[in-house]
Order: sequence, then C-alpha cells, then structure tokens
Amino acid sequence: MSLLRVSKLKKYFAVKRSAGEILLRVPQRYVKAVDGISFEINEGETFGLVGESGSGKTTTGRLVLRLIEPTEGTIEFDGIDITRLSNRDMRLLRNKMQVIFQDPMAALNPYMKIGDAVKHGLEIHNIGKNEQERKKIVLEMLEKVNLQPEIYSRYPHELSGGQRQRVVIARALILKPRFVVADEALAMLDVSVRSQLLKLLLDLKREMNLTFLFITHDLATTKYMCNRIGVMYLGKFVEIGTYKHIYESPMHPYTKALISAIPEPDPNIMNSKKRFIPHGEVPNPINPPKGCRFHPRCPFSMDICTSLEPQLINMQDGRTIACHLYNSH
Ligand SMILES: Nc1ncnc2c1ncn2[C@@H]1O[C@H](COP(=O)(O)OP(=O)(O)OP(=O)(O)O)[C@@H](O)[C@H]1O
Ligand SMILES: [Mg+2]
Repeated sequence: MSLLRVSKLKKYFAVKRSAGEILLRVPQRYVKAVDGISFEINEGETFGLVGESGSGKTTTGRLVLRLIEPTEGTIEFDGIDITRLSNRDMRLLRNKMQVIFQDPMAALNPYMKIGDAVKHGLEIHNIGKNEQERKKIVLEMLEKVNLQPEIYSRYPHELSGGQRQRVVIARALILKPRFVVADEALAMLDVSVRSQLLKLLLDLKREMNLTFLFITHDLATTKYMCNRIGVMYLGKFVEIGTYKHIYESPMHPYTKALISAIPEPDPNIMNSKKRFIPHGEVPNPINPPKGCRFHPRCPFSMDICTSLEPQLINMQDGRTIACHLYNSH
C-alpha cells in the first residue's frame, strides 16, 4: 500500500525583480525547481532521490512535508490529500512526518541540553504523564540510537558530529513517525561514521516500520538504503528504478553519466570503466531547454529530443524512463 502518493507536483519560485525591472515591466520569471513529478512510496519502503545540485531534491522533500506550498499538484499521505489540509489539521499530522537535515549543529539549539531537545516533541504533543515518564521515553530513545544516558544533560557542542546526528535522529523518531525525509542526512560525516549511521537508520527503519524519502548525493549509500531510486534532472524524473536498474544497468544517458562519475576506489577498475561525463553546465532552471531537458548535454541527442519532451514510460524490466532513445517504438 502506498503511504505517500505525489501527483503532478510543481514548485515555481518567483525570481526577485529589481525596482528598475518592475518599472520597466520586465515579466516575472520563475525558477522551476520542481516541474511536474509523480511518484509513490509504499509503506516500509525507502525511496531515494538522486541528481546533481539544483535538480530539485530538497524542494521535493520540503513539498511532501508541506513545509512549502506547491504551485500545482497533490500530495496524499495515508490516503489524505495534505495539500488541501488546513494548518490546524496539518499540525495534527506533523508528528507522523519528520525530517532529518544534513547539519545537526544548525538543527540543535546550542543552549538547550540534549535531553530537553529530544523531549520537546513529547511536551508539544502531550505525550507521557509527567516529567519523569517523559525522561524515561527520552532515555529509551537515546539508547535506541546508541547514545549513553550521560548525553541527556550535555550540550550540543560537547558532542562529536556523529553523536549530534544521532541526537537529531532520536529527536525525529521520538514521536514514532511513519514517514521520514532524510535530506543529505549523513553527508557531513566521515566515511566510517557515515556507515555506522547508515546501519543505524536501517535498523531503526525495520524496528519502527519507517518509510523514507532518502535524498543523497552519495549514490553508493542508496544500495543499502533504498528499495527504489528516482533520478532527477532540472525538476523532473528521468529514470526511476531499483538499485540494480539505476546503478548496475542505467539506461537514461543522464543516469549513465551520474553513475560513471562516481569515483572508483580501485584505480585499475577506474581506468577500464568507460567514463562518460556530460559536457557543459546544468542549464538554468528559469528557462529549461525545450524538448528533453538533457538534450544539450546528451551525446545521443536526436532531432526529436530538441522539440518534444519525452514522457516517463514503463519498461518491461520494471523501471520507468523518460528518453526518446527507448520511446521510438
Ligand atoms: N526558496 C527558494 N527561492 C528561490 N529559488 C529556490 C529556492 N529554493 C530552491 N531554489 C532553487 O530551486 C532549484 C532546486 O533547488 P533544490 O535545493 O531543491 O536542489 P537540490 O537538488 O536539493 O540541490 P543540492 O544537491 O545542492 O542540495 C535551484 O535552482 C535553487 O536555486
Ligand atoms: Mg538539497
């Protein structure tokens, strides 16, 4: 059963105009950060979002939590269209949806003890009979993320980066959410700490039956974390599939480029691996290219790609892809 169903979602940010531009009636322009995406995440599934910087991953994460309002489209959570919910009703749902960001130092109040920070959500939602009971719930949660009870009365600056991120995870999960958006949650950590935390997230996911939207630059982590992966380019999906589809046999030229750009730890393999990195910069999302948005950088571009936007189609192997190379028959 799908827990999250996103349909034709768009987010256009108005570009600020200068006084001179307003005076000269320069038309309002928009950054098309998310430009019509549809996907579903099943209960207990982890859906990965990958793509270059600026492709719209964070905007998608913020939209599905309704931290920002969509320009168009709908988001259904557990069968409820949350795009139409009042703020009051949305607040009731908030504890079921949580987010873990990249920078735990920025997420934590430096003057608040760890115990109080983790407990805060319990107080807001009136969980636990009294102070003592809430403290007990917090200590249990700290244990779940493998933090010692002493941490309870420490301040964020007294902790390591990895410990702080465990605190942020504890705080996000204490209200027993069903759905968690992790936006580059492990990106700032050392490789070894990152793999410990990845394992922790996986254990917690199983134990608490969590559903994840997992946003990452690090394609390698999607292998362990994600059931399916959506590859975004300039606000759209180009390919959606399993790790096997995306990582081991990418079909879309952009996915191929992303995969071949991953540094290979073994230099011998690196040399033999065919590297294909798209030329040029990511185009401006205010004026995305006509036709297929990737065509100016695509080595396989055909005439049709410059004029007709390819639609996502289902392939026989179960993946979805938007590319005229696979669309012509
Ligand atoms: N509040 C905003 N106002 C205007 N433009 C925005 C805003 N937020 C994001 N954008 C623009 O929307 C586009 C998508 O941004 P987004 O942060 O979603 O990308 P991303 O895929 O998360 O990138 P990264 O990998 O760097 O985190 C970018 O062009 C960005 O500059
Ligand atoms: Mg981002």
